Amino acid sequence: MRKSSTILPYCLVVSLFVLVSSSSGTDTIQQLQNISDGQTLVSAGGIFVLGFFSPGDSGKRYLGIWFAVSNTTIVWVANRDKPLNDSSGILRIDTSGNLVLTGNPPNTIFWSTGQTSSVGATARLLDSGNFVLREGSSPTAGDFLWQSFDHPTDTMLAGMKIGPDYRTERDRNLTAWRNATDPSPGRFTYKLDPRGMGQPFVLDNTRVIFRSGPWNGIQFSGTPSMKTYPRFRSTVVQNQDEAYYQFMVTQPATLTRLMIDNSGKLTRSLWDGEKLDWLELWRSDRDRCGEYAYCGPNGVCNSDASLACNCLPGFRARNQEQWDFQNWSGGCVRNTSLNCTDGDGFRLERGMKLPDTVNSTVHVEMNLDKCRESCWRNCSCVAYASANTSGGESGCITWIGDLIDMRTFGEVEDGQNIYIRLAKADLEILGKPSKKKHETIIAITVGLALVLLFLVLWGYCSWRKRNQNAEAIIEDGSRHQTVNNGLTDENNDLPLFDLGTIALATNKFADSHKIGKGGFGCVYKGQFADGQEVAVKRLSLKYGEGIEEFKTEVRLIAKLQHRNLVRLLGCCIGGGERLLVYEYMPNSSLDAFIFGDVQKRRLLDWEKRLDIILGIARGLLYLHQDSRLRVIHRDLKAANILLDEAMNPKISDFGTARIFERNQMEDNTVKIVGTIGYMSPEYIMSGKFSEKSDIFSFGVLVLEIISGRKNQWVSQKNFHMKLLANAWRLCTENQSDRLLDDMLGLPSQFSDVLRCIQVGLLCVQESPDDRPTIQEVVLMLANRTSVLPQPEKPGFFKPTTIVAAAQWFADSCSSSSSVNVITLTNVEGR
Ligand SMILES: *[C@@H]1O[C@H](CO)[C@@H](O)[C@H](O)[C@H]1NC(C)=O
Ligand SMILES: *[C@@H]1O[C@H](CO)[C@@H](O)[C@H](O)[C@H]1NC(C)=O
Ligand SMILES: *[C@@H]1O[C@H](CO)[C@@H](O)[C@H](O)[C@H]1NC(C)=O
Ligand SMILES: *[C@@H]1O[C@H](CO)[C@@H](O)[C@H](O)[C@H]1NC(C)=O
Ligand SMILES: *[C@@H]1O[C@H](CO)[C@@H](O)[C@H](O)[C@H]1NC(C)=O
Ligand SMILES: *[C@@H]1O[C@H](CO)[C@@H](O)[C@H](O)[C@H]1NC(C)=O
Ligand SMILES: *[C@@H]1O[C@H](CO)[C@@H](O)[C@H](O)[C@H]1NC(C)=O
Ligand SMILES: *[C@@H]1O[C@H](CO)[C@@H](O)[C@H](O)[C@H]1NC(C)=O
Ligand SMILES: *[C@@H]1O[C@H](CO)[C@@H](O)[C@H](O)[C@H]1NC(C)=O
Ligand SMILES: *[C@@H]1O[C@H](CO)[C@@H](O)[C@H](O)[C@H]1NC(C)=O
Ligand SMILES: *[C@@H]1O[C@H](CO)[C@@H](O)[C@H](O)[C@H]1NC(C)=O
Repeated sequence: MRKSSTILPYCLVVSLFVLVSSSSGTDTIQQLQNISDGQTLVSAGGIFVLGFFSPGDSGKRYLGIWFAVSNTTIVWVANRDKPLNDSSGILRIDTSGNLVLTGNPPNTIFWSTGQTSSVGATARLLDSGNFVLREGSSPTAGDFLWQSFDHPTDTMLAGMKIGPDYRTERDRNLTAWRNATDPSPGRFTYKLDPRGMGQPFVLDNTRVIFRSGPWNGIQFSGTPSMKTYPRFRSTVVQNQDEAYYQFMVTQPATLTRLMIDNSGKLTRSLWDGEKLDWLELWRSDRDRCGEYAYCGPNGVCNSDASLACNCLPGFRARNQEQWDFQNWSGGCVRNTSLNCTDGDGFRLERGMKLPDTVNSTVHVEMNLDKCRESCWRNCSCVAYASANTSGGESGCITWIGDLIDMRTFGEVEDGQNIYIRLAKADLEILGKPSKKKHETIIAITVGLALVLLFLVLWGYCSWRKRNQNAEAIIEDGSRHQTVNNGLTDENNDLPLFDLGTIALATNKFADSHKIGKGGFGCVYKGQFADGQEVAVKRLSLKYGEGIEEFKTEVRLIAKLQHRNLVRLLGCCIGGGERLLVYEYMPNSSLDAFIFGDVQKRRLLDWEKRLDIILGIARGLLYLHQDSRLRVIHRDLKAANILLDEAMNPKISDFGTARIFERNQMEDNTVKIVGTIGYMSPEYIMSGKFSEKSDIFSFGVLVLEIISGRKNQWVSQKNFHMKLLANAWRLCTENQSDRLLDDMLGLPSQFSDVLRCIQVGLLCVQESPDDRPTIQEVVLMLANRTSVLPQPEKPGFFKPTTIVAAAQWFADSCSSSSSVNVITLTNVEGR
């Protein structure tokens, strides 16, 4: 609706102008009529305009077609390599029915269609953006003598065909402009290669730089996001006459284009009639795996992993040393060469972008079983896959030689299944479990081992304590006693709930009411008789120390009130239970959204995520600086950020917070409390915590919110923090945009994203002194023009960190220092 109202006045003005200044119709030129510089043709629906333009400040004149809504979006240029120097250009149909562009010096021909017709011709600009020449004087009847869609420039429009036409022996391809002010053909081409299955490529001169992957009936194997464009319908057709890729729009008002720019980047965009700008739907260089053959022959790219490339199972790096230095170009070779006569088999790889098919054979109407058989019989066949996912499994494709340009996708259903031929020995080594499972098993084993290690150490420490140093406990207790004295006074204004009421509200702490688990116990949802919903935190009594946390939390939260902190409504002590009653947050916690499924991740668009980051920063500013007491949270993480009904973030779980005297900068903590993935290096390695350890956790959180990925421990040879390593690498490669959650598209305020990533990286610096204070963070986030310092390598870049950390736990235990409890929350297979 909105769109047509913006087009109409514009096209009325243009039409009037054309009517007044030229005798031709609005979208048609008849024989012996002409269009001179300054005049335009406008398609019947007012969607496209044909006329003369000068790109940038080049001063040269070109005849072109552009979108009426955006006259800088040129979709076609006639005389792209022969510009006019002045505005003398005239487009007309000459006496032989040829469409020609002439200008100064007089009678110079700058461009022509080279078609002739004995009965004359008519040219018309269609609403599809196609400029067509027909025989005769009727603008609608008859076949096209010539059409601009057969001679694309750098833009593909709905209805256009890209691919070879065998009848005319012409290739219909997109060729990028040389530069922004020069439309002459540049280095980059987008074309369909009909060999194997039809695959579109981007070429830099003759070198392939991007491959969309073979068409599987729904999408190109390498661009799963195509499935999610309800406004397009795409097809790939191959027959004796031609091979082509084409897309159609399903709603007539959709304005869309696929364009190759002068850096070789392919972009699909959609006109946003409300913002009056192009919305980028997809871009060929969104991640490093888009680069053709990034991992070399038989290598598989994974854009989510910190190490981009892996060899196919059963293959090893051709040059291990180069591979370890992340030089992937050499690719991989078979561990055991194939023995054609005996024992070869196939191994299924799921969720892949199928390898390059230029040397492949397509078997029409052959089912997968037959295909396997046929591949197995032919010694040179190394892999096979179904060619058709739409029409069932009719048709298959087989590969010979090296498998080039494969990648895996985060979601298995985004990719396709491919069966790789392997020698018997390799199949036996790989055994049953697939590689994915292998990784999870390693992760789980490592996780369990860590938990076990910590439990054993904890048990040992408590045992040592109990047996060896009873005095220390008394001393410790008396120290806490003084702190606790304050509680009784200040507890008075805190409502005390009665255990019976809470048991009733939570259905006696039924499992069905359980909504979460924190460091010190479970959280239940409750509803009082009056309908009020609350969250009840039931502290586990297993840990004798729980009471201390309980009192700290009660006292702290009662005093702390801020709109970005969860409010404590009251507490309950008695019957062997210690309970805290909080306001209930209907939208649960942030991790459910940013690490959730597609729908949930989409719910949080970029603006909302930025709001959440700012909200958390404000909450933390209050805790660190503005509240009466200086409070360090010590377990800041996505699971501890709750969202209210308007998705405002609220920091929860202060059970681990410590009160700081104003002048006390740092403390050797008695307890290690926190979550792996968010804990700062100095906290893990020496137990030192300060506000800067919270800043570290905040930095991790910011990067997680931006990327939608968890900060995980990776165990490929050495341990390191996956997300931090990734963010740092992309930042140094000037490709920070690739960190952004794919669900978000490219926000218009992209500089905000870059700013947040930079702030995130500054917060996770190895040395606490290099991290900003929360006050500085808030300023950096709020002031869009301030210049930020450049981050250095983030923490946990040293592979020895985890070893040192484990070592520290052991040391501190045997030297009977003040460590007495190690609590680790949520040790998952992170
Ligand atoms: C262009 O058309 C106008 C009017 O139709 C005519 O007067 C003029 O001579 C034409 N110019 C050329 C170069 O054909
Ligand atoms: C595009 O529109 C702007 C503003 O309306 C105008 O100044 C400019 O001349 C137009 N360019 C072309 C090529 O029509
Ligand atoms: C346009 O100007 C350039 C530079 O002055 C000159 O080389 C070229 O021949 C001119 N082209 C025409 C068609 O006059
Ligand atoms: C693109 O198409 C043009 C016109 O058919 C042809 O001359 C050119 O060689 C093609 N480019 C490539 C890279 O195939
Ligand atoms: C574009 O290329 C032309 C030559 O092809 C050159 O003269 C011009 O300076 C270039 N413009 C820019 C902005 O690079
Ligand atoms: C390669 O094969 C050797 C012996 O056949 C085996 O020890 C090794 O584990 C294999 N490596 C891989 C990566 O499969
Ligand atoms: C990468 O490795 C290949 C061999 O696998 C070698 O030829 C090339 O020089 C290496 N590149 C760099 C930048 O080291
Ligand atoms: C293949 O395996 C068979 C039996 O294991 C063996 O006799 C034969 O030599 C092998 N052939 C090759 C080429 O390795
Ligand atoms: C296709 O085969 C040719 C000739 O053997 C080879 O040079 C090329 O690398 C192969 N391409 C792919 C993608 O396998
Ligand atoms: C094996 O496959 C290749 C490529 O698909 C084909 O050229 C060759 O003729 C086949 N060999 C046999 C024995 O069928
Ligand atoms: C894919 O399926 C369609 C319809 O089911 C069929 O026409 C086409 O030939 C199949 N393609 C191949 C390569 O088998």
